[in-house]
Amino acid sequence: MRNQIVIKKKINHYDKKILIPGDKSLSIRWILISSLANGISTAKNLLVSQDVKAAINAIRKLGVKVKINDTICKVYGVGIEGYKYKKGLTINAQNSGTLGRLISGLLVNSPFPIKITGDKSLSKRDFWRIAKPLGKFGARLKLKNNYNLPLTITGSNNLKPIHYIEKKGSAQVKSSIIFAGARTNGKTFIKAKKSRDHTELLFKHLNLPIKVKNKKNFDLIEISKFKKIKPLDYKIPSDLSSCAFFIALTILSKNSRLTISNVNVNPTRTGMLTILRKMGIKITLINKKIYKGEFLADIQIKSPKIIKSIDCPSNLNSGAIDEFLVIFLIAAKAKGVSVFKNLDELNQKESPRLKWGSKILKMMGVKVISKKNSLKIYGNPELSVNKKIVIKDYLKDHRVFMTCAIAALTFGGTWKIVDPESIQTSFPNFLKILKSIGAKIN
Ligand code: S3P
Repeated sequence: MRNQIVIKKKINHYDKKILIPGDKSLSIRWILISSLANGISTAKNLLVSQDVKAAINAIRKLGVKVKINDTICKVYGVGIEGYKYKKGLTINAQNSGTLGRLISGLLVNSPFPIKITGDKSLSKRDFWRIAKPLGKFGARLKLKNNYNLPLTITGSNNLKPIHYIEKKGSAQVKSSIIFAGARTNGKTFIKAKKSRDHTELLFKHLNLPIKVKNKKNFDLIEISKFKKIKPLDYKIPSDLSSCAFFIALTILSKNSRLTISNVNVNPTRTGMLTILRKMGIKITLINKKIYKGEFLADIQIKSPKIIKSIDCPSNLNSGAIDEFLVIFLIAAKAKGVSVFKNLDELNQKESPRLKWGSKILKMMGVKVISKKNSLKIYGNPELSVNKKIVIKDYLKDHRVFMTCAIAALTFGGTWKIVDPESIQTSFPNFLKILKSIGAKIN
């Protein structure tokens, strides 16, 4: 039989302090950048999930030594030009769009073709978005149907810098171009719609040749060829996108409180917190500090009395892109009708999440109107689910699985959710932490 979890009981009220694993975006970026450093870099609190392990395997294939013990990881950097490109190399990015897209930017100087593959979900996703700009540098990229993995990249020893306008607000596309620009003589310019800026912050922290001008709706980035990268020791803060499930749990429960320590609250990632505040929910950040350019804080949250509906401003979309599934759940309990628009990018994730968001709410009996890139949710503060719900065939999207677990624990009903191993992608101890605060899960 297929693995599944069953949830039949709502969670009781709680007052807890929890620790969430390391940030996925930072863990993968740290691995890739350290692999090209001159010397040994050490990370503490690295996220040890399937996406991050795929990144470690990828750099190992390129001749980089990695040692990992629990969440402490050492990468023995080989220097900017040190990758051992071999004939017939295949890199499996598994479920990780971040790995597949970012590493492609670093491979634009490979003398041999390198094949990038992925799992069923990643193989459905858009890789033309990086093949197009990387091709402009002079690398040759071949995709299945001009769009999907497998991707074959053949690099060039005569790369030319490019000017590129990134319009999707995708940090993966932006970072892929930054990495290719860092391998290319001359100046590469990117005009990028706002998106998470971890790559830029890491490069600045390392004094690498990057310049960023922040405008209101976009950033102007200038990048030149790297000569040398210093090793980078990094204590990875907690992932706000993983915290989001526990923030939602607390908002949707009664009389509960939660503190989550040492979270990366980089302003390009906190769209969810802004949206929740607009919905009348109080979220407090304490012990704020700056660490290597990133903003960190402890998050305090308690169950609100009432949740207001929202007409969500689209300029918050990119900063909340991984959190919309739980934001939709919260809107289902709000007083009034909420509207979310211009969310085309949400259907480009591990599963078509705008479709899944609307599907889950419909199964729960919530009235929704879904269009191609928008969702209208008719909220009900008294919403309660009294039926059996089975969740399957969701391409093992980790965030669909976790969202459904939170819905089950807060709205009631009997939920069967298949493929719990999907959480290995980003948050392997998700169920363990839920149980530690009192959830009953079979
Ligand atoms: C990520 C960027 C986002 C996000 C993903 C991680 C990153 O994707 O959804 O989970 O680490 O750069 P896009 O850049 O494609 O929007």
